[in-house]
Amino acid sequence: MNTLIFALPGNEALAQALSQQTGFPAGSAEIRHFPDGETYVRLLTDVQQQRVLVLATLFQPDAQMMALYYLCRILRDSGAQEITLIAPYLAYMRQDKQFHPGEAVTSAYFAEWVSQFADRLITIDPHLHRRKSMSEIYRIPCTVLHAEEIIAEWVTKNVELPLLIGPDSESEQWVSAIANRMSIPYIVLEKTRLGDKNVEISVPDVSAYLQHTPVLMDDIISTARTMIQTHLHLQKAGLQPTVCIGVHGLFAGDALQALQDAGVGKIITCNTIPHATNAIDISPLIVKQL
Ligand code: R5P
Repeated sequence: MNTLIFALPGNEALAQALSQQTGFPAGSAEIRHFPDGETYVRLLTDVQQQRVLVLATLFQPDAQMMALYYLCRILRDSGAQEITLIAPYLAYMRQDKQFHPGEAVTSAYFAEWVSQFADRLITIDPHLHRRKSMSEIYRIPCTVLHAEEIIAEWVTKNVELPLLIGPDSESEQWVSAIANRMSIPYIVLEKTRLGDKNVEISVPDVSAYLQHTPVLMDDIISTARTMIQTHLHLQKAGLQPTVCIGVHGLFAGDALQALQDAGVGKIITCNTIPHATNAIDISPLIVKQL
């Protein structure tokens, strides 16, 4: 069985990197919107008996899901043998319980939908917090890759005397793994989210680390309020300018500007979502799986 790589619009750079590193050719599809906003998809490559990889990072998922669904449907109807969705950033993982009566637990509904049209999922550091495993909500085999090793490499090369900081208990899994890998100190803070753009962070005594460079590490940077509040506390405590690292840089609304205005030292993300802050390449991680 041969393998073809299809990419949703916006995923071309990573698709090209995967194609170069694996030798798998690119498949072609026309994907656009009609003037009224509906989605048009036309498959242009023969996929009979082929294994297909569909690369679609699911940042701003509501704008992308129709195209992804239609592409997977026409791939299947055209004879593709196996459809693997590669979603370096997997959306809808954070609403993993009903915080208020009547709320849709969208992580489960979304997983159910994807499981209907893809045969396999490969993703990077999905937001597994209250759920421990993807199989709790996905019915298809899921491969979860972790960026910790390549982030640790970046920190080793670029930061002298790092102190790794996780802003909340959810980040402990990434921060502790990277710190242990590098044999460096780490602390995990306590966060209370009061609203979409309102978070409270409590910082313990960090006076032992005044010479260290704080490396603030989180899986997702969305409004950036978690990073901003933490950075401001660390500055008040007398630490060096903060290096902010997010696996997935969503940068909603004014997030990037607000983070820059807060005076952080550096803002670094992995290229799971294309962005100017991308400095850590995750393509080798995916290639190893293919
Ligand atoms: C929380 O559950 C995540 O791990 C991140 O801490 C969160 O998504 C960051 O959000 P924001 O950038 O909006 O503070």
